[in-house]
Amino acid sequence: MNVLLINGSPHKEGATYTALTEISSQLEKEGIGTTMFHIGTKPISGCIACMKCADTGYCVLNDEKVNECIDLLKQADGLIVGSPVYFAGPNATLCALLDRVFYLKANPYAFKPAAAIASCRRGGNSAAFDRLNKYFTFAQMPVVSSHYWNSIHGNNAEEAKQDTEGLQIMRILGKNMAWLLKCIDNSKEKFPHPEIEPRTKMNYIR
Ligand SMILES: Cc1cc2nc3c(=O)[nH]c(=O)nc-3n(C[C@H](O)[C@H](O)[C@H](O)COP(=O)(O)O)c2cc1C
Repeated sequence: MNVLLINGSPHKEGATYTALTEISSQLEKEGIGTTMFHIGTKPISGCIACMKCADTGYCVLNDEKVNECIDLLKQADGLIVGSPVYFAGPNATLCALLDRVFYLKANPYAFKPAAAIASCRRGGNSAAFDRLNKYFTFAQMPVVSSHYWNSIHGNNAEEAKQDTEGLQIMRILGKNMAWLLKCIDNSKEKFPHPEIEPRTKMNYIR
């Protein structure tokens, strides 16, 4: 089993990475493999709503990060998305990536457990956390929780390491994710996933 961890910060090894590492260490302790995916510092365009991905399952735009992430998520058994807080929301570059990873392509991700985490200097973690959870609940991904809203405080890795409460939240999240993955894996023959219904689209024009 393998969990994909998306580091949605331009800092490869900053506060967000510190929180994600606490989760991945716990997952590894529980015998679950992990893959860290860094969104990097190059621009990632927003979705251009061309709808071409409905036919191909991939994005037509020519920046390799999005399609690489789609393939990694298809292969993964679980997902953790981490973001720094920018103006009380997730990093816009991360949202650009996730919009394109999820839009019209969510079916293959259904039933994979997922969780979001946010890191900030002082405020906005809760709003960023709420926004990121929208991707999972759109995609029929069971949301894994910890014992608080998944957040860590610090302006950089060193400060985040001092937030012992934040680190504990991450460790518990890792444990809970490992537990759920094992439950799903052990019961998949007895309880196969529900069938995915085609989406009924009702545009509110009436
Ligand atoms: C554009 C920008 C906006 C930010 N907005 C907030 C904010 O609203 N609240 C906050 O507490 N920190 C804010 N910060 C600080 C980052 O959230 C904080 O440094 C974060 O933990 C860095 O994580 P990283 O090391 O993984 O990049 C902002 C930083 C930047 C660059």
